[in-house]
Amino acid sequence: MEMQEVLENMFLPLPGVPPILITKTEGVYLYDSSGARFIDASGGPMAVTIGHGRKEVAEAAKRGLEQVTYILPVFASESRIELVKRIKKLMPPELNEVYFCSGGSEANEAAIKFARQYQVLAGRESKYKVVSRNLSYHGMTLLTLSIGDVKMRQRDFIPMLWKNPRVEPHYCYRCPYGKEYPRCDIDCALNLEKRILEEGPETVSAFIAEPVVASAGGGLVPPPEYFPIIRETCDKYDVLFIADEVVSGFGRTGKNMAMDHFGVVPDIATFAKGASSAYAPLAGMVVRGELTDLYKEKEAEFQHLYTFSGHPLSCAVANEVQRILEEEGLIARAGEMGKYLEKKLWELMELPMVGDIRGKGLLWSIEFVKNKTTKEPFPRAKNVKMHIIATCLLKGVFFYPGYWEDDQDRGDHIMIAPPFIITEEQIDECIGVLRETLEESQHTVLSG
Ligand SMILES: Cc1ncc(COP(=O)(O)O)c(C=O)c1O
Repeated sequence: MEMQEVLENMFLPLPGVPPILITKTEGVYLYDSSGARFIDASGGPMAVTIGHGRKEVAEAAKRGLEQVTYILPVFASESRIELVKRIKKLMPPELNEVYFCSGGSEANEAAIKFARQYQVLAGRESKYKVVSRNLSYHGMTLLTLSIGDVKMRQRDFIPMLWKNPRVEPHYCYRCPYGKEYPRCDIDCALNLEKRILEEGPETVSAFIAEPVVASAGGGLVPPPEYFPIIRETCDKYDVLFIADEVVSGFGRTGKNMAMDHFGVVPDIATFAKGASSAYAPLAGMVVRGELTDLYKEKEAEFQHLYTFSGHPLSCAVANEVQRILEEEGLIARAGEMGKYLEKKLWELMELPMVGDIRGKGLLWSIEFVKNKTTKEPFPRAKNVKMHIIATCLLKGVFFYPGYWEDDQDRGDHIMIAPPFIITEEQIDECIGVLRETLEESQHTVLSG
């Protein structure tokens, strides 16, 4: 098979962009076979934290593989033990039991099953429902696809999806309740209780939410009152609160975990991407010790196991990534560079198609609109976000698409989530390319 054909089979299509063969990755840059460089302004899928191509990580992977190739989770390895210690150091003290998987979808699936099994062990067998939020994404397995809200990913699978209860998220730019913060009553948080009561509290096992919504909503940050209300409601009805920190965890928002911004500890936090800076497949969940205590007391085994859970290679890689993150103070840096990125992004607000800019740390999004006053989105046929992403890529900067769609399949936003090592000059270059692209395309996009 010709190289071109292979690439076409693999590539996520971007309009007008031929498949690109990447031959080297270093720092914030991806290099193609001709030597041209692209800034990875999205850190892959909001995953790369320490930057690409750190030799120490490759060496740690080699050492790890030479020591232990594979062991079942009944065994411990030095790399697994070290990683558990490192993860616990980053968590609030209540979250002190670590369970590994390979990807974020698996981690969320595991968390939902863990919560259900806990409810059964606690004598609450009728609790099985999971309340989730609109404008969220929790993965691609059938269960996680069901509880998420990415319409284009769900469309062809609708008859196979689980119909679970929903609440509206904190989408202040288009408040689902037609209110405005701070004069609103945080209805988005209060509605969780209403929903639990409608469903019957005896049927609800868990509530799942992204602390800062990533690509499905585009950098949605809740008001400070939101998660304390959620915590109280979950406690009142014996509902476990699962924080999906697959994107937001391990420093992405400028704190260890995004929930740290809100002073609330979930019952389970899931993680993936940033845990290994995407150098190797590694994910998992951290759980409150009091939950696993019940499993121990009942001598119950969590009925869930993946072959590659906590693979020694992934653990060795993640340990080195976490060492770099800690020793180079990169989580604090994500917070600092996030402030600079925020300032530069807000300079784009003067452009007619920039409707909203939102995010935290190094997890940001821009929502594009046809009409700034009415907030009317662009028609789907224009494929605005993909054209913006493709044009920026041809100019040397890669941004990630967002997946919000309204009931007429309209909606355009992009994600900006670079590695934490990005410099001010590199941010300037990203924003410069984005501004140029928006200024060039606004005439064609806004007319007609
Ligand atoms: C918030 C969130 N949860 C879960 C996932 C699923 O993770 P994975 O692609 O590793 O299965 C993603 C992936 O982007 C995500 O953004």
